[in-house]
Parts: sequence; structure tokens; C-alpha cells
Amino acid sequence: MTGTKVTVETIRAMKARGEKIAALTAYDFPMTRLLDEAGVPLILVGDSLGMVVLGYPDTTHVTMAEMEHHVRAAARAKPRALLAADMPYQSYTTVADAVANAQRLAAAGAEAVKAEGGRDIVEQVRAIVSSGIPFLGHLGMLPQHVLEEGGYHVKGKNEPEHQALLADAQALAAAGAFAVVLELVTPLVAKELTQAVPIPTIGIGAGPHCDGQVLVTPDLLGMLPWYDLKHVKPKLNAAEQMRKVVKEWKLGVEGQMPKH
Ligand code: KIV
Repeated sequence: MTGTKVTVETIRAMKARGEKIAALTAYDFPMTRLLDEAGVPLILVGDSLGMVVLGYPDTTHVTMAEMEHHVRAAARAKPRALLAADMPYQSYTTVADAVANAQRLAAAGAEAVKAEGGRDIVEQVRAIVSSGIPFLGHLGMLPQHVLEEGGYHVKGKNEPEHQALLADAQALAAAGAFAVVLELVTPLVAKELTQAVPIPTIGIGAGPHCDGQVLVTPDLLGMLPWYDLKHVKPKLNAAEQMRKVVKEWKLGVEGQMPKH
């Protein structure tokens, strides 16, 4: 991809200019390259990797070694986009672990790291940012807490949750996060957070008022027909198209249809 390299400052400046930020996930070389060629400015090697690539039931199974492997593959695409990577479950429990594991992801090619939490992880965020690695926050529904929470629930529906989200977003911004993902936050609360914090909010299932939107790319492309998705309507039925092409090719090989 040609053009100026996207940096954390580019992403922050987009909010200042009122430009919406389109972010997507990628887990390997071809997907990163394709998203980059399509001009997406922020690409995330998410730990959704666990479900959409590795076949785990949730993100709590993803390891540092798996994240490093996929970050390396994505980084080989040398995207113009800013390449961020998720810190996996329990990789940032202490400040020392957070810095060491953020450095491992940076060494694998991540240009920023993301972790889930607010006031509970501000020490880790400060230390990661002080070590020179840009930090992307993640508030609202936190997939790494899905087992404790018993599912993926919308956040901000009551006053204590609303106030906690506001305090967490402000704490992340003060600690040096360059942006924050808001997952499954009610649209009204997401709008308020977007106005309240100086850093971009990037929503997923959080309504239209965030500074940007992020999706898990296989969800957008309809590659995972086995899951019931509430927050995204696939723009392509890639799963069905793949099945159809493969069936036709197989019949061709078996001599039942003319070869393409
Ligand atoms: O893991 C992931 O893909 C994410 C996005 C949904 C933001 O955290």
C-alpha cells in the first residue's frame, strides 16, 4: 500500500477533524494486505483470533505464543495502516507482565497493543505507554471476562454502569491511551463517552455516534455462518460462495462438470 504511514497521531487527528475511523481485524498476511489495499487505517490482530481462526469457544484460550505467531504473519504485509494487536487473557495481570508482553508483541511487529479494562489497568497502561508502545483501550463488554459474566451483555444500561464507563474512559485517556474500543455499549452512553474524552472511541455494537467503527472481518464477510451475529449484517456470503466454488471444482475434478 502506498501513501503516508498511519500512526497513532493520524488516528487521533481523525477525531479532531471529525473524520470517522474504519477499523477491521486481520490475523494473517493476505487479509492484512487486502484490508490495507482497501485503505483501512487501523488493523487489529484481535484475540477474536481464538474463535474465528483457531476454533476456541472464547478468547480466554488464546496464548501469547499464538498472538505472536499471527502478529508476525500480519506484520509481513508491511501495512500502511496502523497495526495493533490484542494482549491475550492474563498477559497483563501485573505491570511487569504487561510491559514484557507488550514488548513481545511489538517485537513481533505490532505498532500498538490493546487490552481490556479501565481504572483496574491504568498502571499497566501508563507503564506500556512509558515503554514507548502505543496503547488502545477496550471498554464495555470485555470478551476476556465472558466466563465470569456468563455471556456477552450490553453495558451502560443502568446508572452505575454508565458512571463506571465514563470514569474508565477518562482514566484510560489520562493514562495515555490513544483511542478506546467500546464494545456493546448502549448508543446513548457511547455518544456521551465520545463527547467526554479527547481520544477517539471506536465502537462495535455501540451505535453510530462513536468516532469510528471496528468489526471482526470474517463477520463482515460472512465467513462464519455458524454464529448468530446481532451487531453485524454480513456484506458478503463468503461461506456460501466458497462452498459453491469448491463443490463445482470438486465435480470438475471428478469429471462430472467441464473443468474451469
Ligand atoms: O478481538 C477482537 O477482534 C476485538 C475487536 C472486536 C475489537 O477486540
